Amino acid sequence: MKSRYSFKEVLQNSEKIRWRVEDIIGGDKRLDFKRPFLPESLARVESMDFLSDREKLLLNQIRGYGYLYTFGLVEEFILPFVLDHVRPHLDENDYQTRAFLQFAGEEAKHIQLFKQFAAEFKQGFGTPCQTIGPPDEIARAVLAHHPLGVALVILHIEWMTQRHYLESVRDDHALDPQFKSLLRHHWMEEAQHAKLDTLMVELMSEVGGAEDIEKGLNDYAALGGMLNAAFRDQAEFDMQSFQLAAERVLDRDEQDRFRSIQTQALCWTFLGSGMTHPNFLETVGDLNPAARVHIEEIAPAFC
Ligand SMILES: [Fe+2]
Ligand SMILES: [Fe+2]
Repeated sequence: MKSRYSFKEVLQNSEKIRWRVEDIIGGDKRLDFKRPFLPESLARVESMDFLSDREKLLLNQIRGYGYLYTFGLVEEFILPFVLDHVRPHLDENDYQTRAFLQFAGEEAKHIQLFKQFAAEFKQGFGTPCQTIGPPDEIARAVLAHHPLGVALVILHIEWMTQRHYLESVRDDHALDPQFKSLLRHHWMEEAQHAKLDTLMVELMSEVGGAEDIEKGLNDYAALGGMLNAAFRDQAEFDMQSFQLAAERVLDRDEQDRFRSIQTQALCWTFLGSGMTHPNFLETVGDLNPAARVHIEEIAPAFC
């Protein structure tokens, strides 16, 4: 199968992008807690009419913190996965080896970037925010699945990142410029990762054949279910963090509405927006056209 992408071209593109964690956050580069962090299409706080404007801003920032925490968390399984994938193929194609090592190096940098952000957030926000995890436990659970299933989850995540930035973040001028800059720099490097993951999925499915493709697609679905359950927990944590930050206890009805709106918002952010990305669906359709149709059929529940 001839791929849309080449290792040489991806490597050349990634070598044009150079930034350091220190350039993006820390020192005089501070978060502005008077402004929202996440675009409304991901945060979905506006329809929560039982919250004041100040409370909507607090919830938006809690979601912004959770957003980057979750990226840090998934990158903790992406990094070892990419390294494990590159090692058996070191002598095959120099561009392939260098492109995957660059990919791994960038994810290690992103993990550090998100940790630095978390430290700044904790200092400025004032109250603690609980999150799912710990990341190494989730990474272990994810990596226990079929490699092609894990590769499909990573492909989903990389295209999802592209979509978030291009459709929601880039033209939103209300966002905190520091948070937005962080998302922009992350997006720039993730654009290459999405192509490398496509190449990885293509290579794995060519070698593994129909049996591996079936296992991989089944495990992609299983991992989606596992993450879906984790996001239900995260919505619950966000409600607790919100009540602490806002110094207010929501009544039963408000809690139900919070849960329902924010669980759906998390599902769209991390599941729906990836599984409906046209490039992700194209790769799945190449593996198995029926699996693509199935994903398109169930996707509305995550949107
Ligand atoms: Fe990343
Ligand atoms: Fe990535």
